[in-house]
Amino acid sequence: MAQSIKAIRGMNDLLPTDTSVWQQVEQVIRATVRAYGYSEMRMPIVEQTSLFCRAIGEVTDVVEKEMYTFEDRSGDSLSLRPEGTAGCVRAALEHSLIYNQEQRLWYMGPMFRHERPQKGRYRQFHQLGVEVFGLNGPDIDAEIIALTYDLWQKLGIADDLCLELNTLGSNEERKVYKESLVKFLEAHFDELDEDSKRRTHTNPLRVLDSKDEKVQALLADAPVLSDFLGAESKAHFEQLQHLLTSLGIKFKLNPRLVRGLDYYNLTVFEWTTTALGAQGTVCGGGRYDGLVEQLGGKPSPAVGFGLGLERLMLLLTTLGKFAPQSAVDVYVCGMGTEIEGEQMKLAHELRAALPEAKVMNHCGGGNFKRLLKRADKVEARVAVILGDDEIQKGTVTLKDLKTSEQQEVTRADAAAQIAAILAC
Ligand code: HAM
Repeated sequence: MAQSIKAIRGMNDLLPTDTSVWQQVEQVIRATVRAYGYSEMRMPIVEQTSLFCRAIGEVTDVVEKEMYTFEDRSGDSLSLRPEGTAGCVRAALEHSLIYNQEQRLWYMGPMFRHERPQKGRYRQFHQLGVEVFGLNGPDIDAEIIALTYDLWQKLGIADDLCLELNTLGSNEERKVYKESLVKFLEAHFDELDEDSKRRTHTNPLRVLDSKDEKVQALLADAPVLSDFLGAESKAHFEQLQHLLTSLGIKFKLNPRLVRGLDYYNLTVFEWTTTALGAQGTVCGGGRYDGLVEQLGGKPSPAVGFGLGLERLMLLLTTLGKFAPQSAVDVYVCGMGTEIEGEQMKLAHELRAALPEAKVMNHCGGGNFKRLLKRADKVEARVAVILGDDEIQKGTVTLKDLKTSEQQEVTRADAAAQIAAILAC
């Protein structure tokens, strides 16, 4: 026997029982972004490598170690997208969506990062991304956070997620702060772990969210960014907090929250849970007012977030929120080979008359017992049975598979009777 080929580590198949739950959740997501008036973008999965280097930052973990980068047959360096913001800004610029305009956009799809796989961390994962361009006030920051909160409420998990909030100030403020932080880190260089030593000169802000306990203890005496903020940055952050409070959205200020991608300024936030172990950040985002210009556009303020769908699904299953739904409501069976054509026609009629119902036509013949067994196996609610007898009389037999009640109805009445059974 030939050796079987397996999926790539960290890249998961979603089986029908999984997709049934994913579809229900995606429907809630789509309804939510739609209710806020946001429009969908669909970008390619592959982009020029230079786009991610420039947008995310050369010295971030994502660009340094996690990208799937390859040369294509023309010799161009391409990468599978590790996130959606860079591609969304590129596309919005390329199609002049941002030029003197506001845009409120969303996308959903797979992202790729070569990380060490574990529960909640995969090499192919999916994100809902929301990106807003052209608005610079704290009101839009509050709106996108409110949108996520709305989503948690609809999914029944609002009490299981905690909103962490911070401000990174303006680029200038952060630059002055960074110098002061680097001085502090250099003074304690020997006490730092290897990662933090390396980051002191490449990406000092990331030292702030080091997982090393000794480093965290040391940071208690480090300079804090809030002391370096000017009046404007402070006012932006205060108004955001005021808006969230007035919307009834609780939050926790976390001065160590810096995010792993380089493009952020001012507001940054994360929704975290303790229910998923180490990979507890379900959603993260913030303001990135410099990125549009950095990618060659006219300056445009921007804010957005990315929501990890695998982590969301894990949280929902852990909390027992969604169950797989059957793919079939109505199972149409015929008895006897002469009947196949008529049976297919009946299935067609029912699909036309009941556009919301999932109608499966039995294939492969068999006796009455076998047909009903199949109907049970696919978890249909109603079996519709057609035999020579029924054809002659212009009727069909309906069996409610939940109550086992059986009735013979005229073919013209069949759809209405089925609808009545499905409704209860
Ligand atoms: P991010 O924090 O890198 O931000 O990712 C957003 C979310 O994607 C995370 O909170 C997590 O739920 C999920 N995620 C990230 N990596 C993995 C992984 N390896 N496996 C499973 N889930 C993962 C961004 O990507 C930004 N583009 C968000 C953003 C949009 N900021 C502004 N606009």
